[in-house]
Amino acid sequence: MVERETWATRTGFILAAVGSAVGLGNIWRFPFVTGEGGGAAFLLIYLLFVALVGFPAILVEFVVGRKTERNPVGALIELGGDAWKYVGGVFVLTGFVILSFYSVVAGWFIRYFLEGFRGSYATHLEGYEAAAAEAGVSTAEVMFGELSTGLDAFFFHTIFMLLTIGIVALGIRRGIELAVKTMVPAIIVLLVGLAIWAFTLPGSGAGYDYYLSPEFGVIVDNWQTLLPAAAGQAFFTLSLGMGVMITYASYLGEDRNLATDGVTIIGFDTGIAFLTGLVVFPIFFAADITPGEGGAGEIFVSMTSAFADVTGGHIIGLVFFGIVAIAALSSAISLLEVVTAYVIDEKGVERWKAALGMGGIIYLLGVPVTYDLVFLDLLDGFADGILLVFGALMLVLLVGWITPKFAVQELEKGIGDLGGLGTAWIWAIRVPILVVLVVSLYLGVVEYVEFLTEDFADWIDANL
Ligand code: PFF
Repeated sequence: MVERETWATRTGFILAAVGSAVGLGNIWRFPFVTGEGGGAAFLLIYLLFVALVGFPAILVEFVVGRKTERNPVGALIELGGDAWKYVGGVFVLTGFVILSFYSVVAGWFIRYFLEGFRGSYATHLEGYEAAAAEAGVSTAEVMFGELSTGLDAFFFHTIFMLLTIGIVALGIRRGIELAVKTMVPAIIVLLVGLAIWAFTLPGSGAGYDYYLSPEFGVIVDNWQTLLPAAAGQAFFTLSLGMGVMITYASYLGEDRNLATDGVTIIGFDTGIAFLTGLVVFPIFFAADITPGEGGAGEIFVSMTSAFADVTGGHIIGLVFFGIVAIAALSSAISLLEVVTAYVIDEKGVERWKAALGMGGIIYLLGVPVTYDLVFLDLLDGFADGILLVFGALMLVLLVGWITPKFAVQELEKGIGDLGGLGTAWIWAIRVPILVVLVVSLYLGVVEYVEFLTEDFADWIDANL
């Protein structure tokens, strides 16, 4: 077996974990699922889910990884016995599915980034005026429609996947730690700046209202769709439910306080998503666009409209799209790392061969998304609504019911005696969190089956 690396610096782990969490989930996915969930009602459920389920669940992954010092598949077998390799297999599969569409979306960001070098976004949008008038939609929407599929999308999917494979092939120390250090502060500065600008837009008030004032009636009426959507988004954005945090914690020394690390990671991740909402929704309302209708294009539509409008917009735009592409890269690395670590540890394959082989298969799986966005829904819905929730449920079951003793001991390393808090954590995952996950999974499956039998079936009828 190849000797395992550890993090080169004490902060390497936290940087990489934040780098994994902060990505397209915060900036691309969060605004459109919030829009689809009706705004503030979704936001509230999502925030509750992150705090009450996400935090205990991230601790579960940390203790499993640090205790076993193995990849997720090996870790589960060591703790639960041989049958758990199938759950580990689901983790690896989830990495495949998510990274395949993730790379295509990240490719769009690279494409929009490069547009910034070719002149202002305002000029680009002018080019779509005729088509927009004909279709009765905004120019930014037409632009997204043009760039999100076809040869463009295919080309940038290829570039992004090559970058991801390259960094993972170089190994933990040299690749991942270096990439993460500057990106998170830069994103925060930019989003704060954009949020302040959005605040000055006439009509932005309705955006805040939509985003920040939940109506409880809406929550009560729609909980069956809000809950699985919030669960999927929470796990996706925190990189939970498929062993990323197990893998990263497996390279970790015993002196880290896992609870404060968890809070730091969740804090950055949630803060960045929340800030993104403060930028997107005011812009949407100022421009009379209905949130929730634009799907995967919402962030591109709102941001290009914004960058077309402000002085120096194409420089800000270029920086924004560029940084998101880097944020996506540090998340993509973590996805490929899970799959690669598995092949290295369990099959004894060399790192670069594992990264290239697995990355190549994932790349092919993503190609259909560049052809039609219905495949994005197909992969994304399956991964977030079902696979991640299932993964988290299995981990909670294992740690809560099968091996609780080691978990509290492991958590106490680096923290000290937890007293009643350790027991409270175990009981929280044993009963309430377990129940919430079972319900979320059930509702997620129902929703996905609906998608398959309605939207996807319609698409097949129309296209095949
Ligand atoms: N958390 C990443 C994001 O928000 O973009 C995406 C992600 C990475 C999901 C790793 C799952 C994962 F295991």
